[in-house]
Amino acid sequence: MDLALLREAARAAIAPDAWAFYQGTADGLADPERDARAWDRWDFVPRAMTGLTAIDTTVELGGHRLRSPITIAATAAHGGAHPDAEAATAAGATAAGVLMAYSHNATLSVEAFAAAATGPWWAQTYLQRDRAATDDYVARSTAAGASAIVLTVDVPGILADAAFRRQPVTGPVQVRGNVPITGGGAGTAAETAITPDDVARLAATAGVPVWVKGVMAAEDAVRALDAGAAGVVVSNHGRRQLHGVAPVATVLRGIVEAVDGRAPVMVDGGIRSGADVVRALALGAAAVGIGRPALWALAAGGADGVAGLLSGLQEEVAVTLAGVGVGRIADLTREMVRRSD
Ligand SMILES: Cc1cc2nc3c(=O)[nH]c(=O)nc-3n(C[C@H](O)[C@H](O)[C@H](O)COP(=O)(O)O)c2cc1C
Repeated sequence: MDLALLREAARAAIAPDAWAFYQGTADGLADPERDARAWDRWDFVPRAMTGLTAIDTTVELGGHRLRSPITIAATAAHGGAHPDAEAATAAGATAAGVLMAYSHNATLSVEAFAAAATGPWWAQTYLQRDRAATDDYVARSTAAGASAIVLTVDVPGILADAAFRRQPVTGPVQVRGNVPITGGGAGTAAETAITPDDVARLAATAGVPVWVKGVMAAEDAVRALDAGAAGVVVSNHGRRQLHGVAPVATVLRGIVEAVDGRAPVMVDGGIRSGADVVRALALGAAAVGIGRPALWALAAGGADGVAGLLSGLQEEVAVTLAGVGVGRIADLTREMVRRSD
C-alpha cells in the first residue's frame, strides 16, 4: 500500500480548511510525519528456520476478539472528509473487523453514531471543567453502546484553547455532534487541572472499562493504573498539542517496562504500515491506533476506502509476522527489533 498516494488523493478530495485541520500539528510547519519516521528507526531482527505454517493476527482487546491489533484512534469531525462522517468510518471499520474509538468532538452525535455502528466501539472523552457535563456524556455513550471509555488526558484546557485559536474548528470541520460550540471553540470547556482522582472517579462510575489516553511518561502510566484505569494509550495526540513532543516510538518501551504486564498498553501516532504495527507490538504494545490515515481513506474512498486501508494494513501485518518468523502476535519479543541508531 502507498499511503503517500492515499494522502494526496485525500488532499485533492476535500475542502482546504478540512485538510488543514486534519493535518495540523502544534509543530506548525514542521513535518506532521515525524512520529512515522521514528518507527522507521526500529529495524527487525528476524528469526529463521521456524517451521511456520500459519499466521494468526487475532488479538483479544477489552473483551473483544479482533481480527488484528489495529484499531481506529479517535479523531474529530469526520464530516470534513465525508458526508456520512463517523458512520462511514464505522462501516469501513466493521467491514475490516476493526474496533473504532469515536471522538467526543465528532460530527455526528453519539446517539446518531451508535445507531449506524454495527461493530464494537469505544467512546473517547475529554474532561470538561463542568464535571457533570462529562458525566452526562459518558452516560450517554455507554447507554448508546460504547464498550469502553477512553479518557484523553493530554489536552489540558489551556492547551486546547491555544490549539483551537491556531486551528479554528469552523466550516466543514465543525463539531456539532456532542458539544455546543460558541466563540473560542470546544477547548474553552476543557479542564486544565486533570489529576488521577479524575481517572479514579470515572473508573468508579462509568460502568465500563476506562482507558487513559495521552500517556508519554512511565510514571503517568503507573499513576493511571493505580487510579483504576483498565489500560493506557501511549500517544502524543498526533503531535497536535505540544510543539517538540517526543515521538511515541521513543517512549513506548519504557512505559511497557514500568507497567510490567499489569494492564494492556496501546499506542498511536505515526503508524503507517503493517511493519510499524509489528514494531509497536514487538516493543510490547497490545494494539495500535490509526489516526490520520483513516481520515485520508475516508476522504478518498468513504467506507470502502476505510475498509480497504484497514484490510491492507492487516495483510501487511500478517506478511511482516511471517518475515519476522512468528506465527502469533504473542510470540513477538523485544529482541526482534533493534534501533538502527
Ligand atoms: C484531525 C485529528 C483530530 C483528532 N481528534 C482527537 C480527539 O478528538 N480526541 C483524541 O483523543 N484524540 C484526537 N486526535 C489524536 C488521535 O487520537 C491520535 O492520537 C493521532 O491521530 C495518532 O497519530 P496519527 O494521526 O499519526 O495516526 C486527533 C488527531 C487528528 C489527526
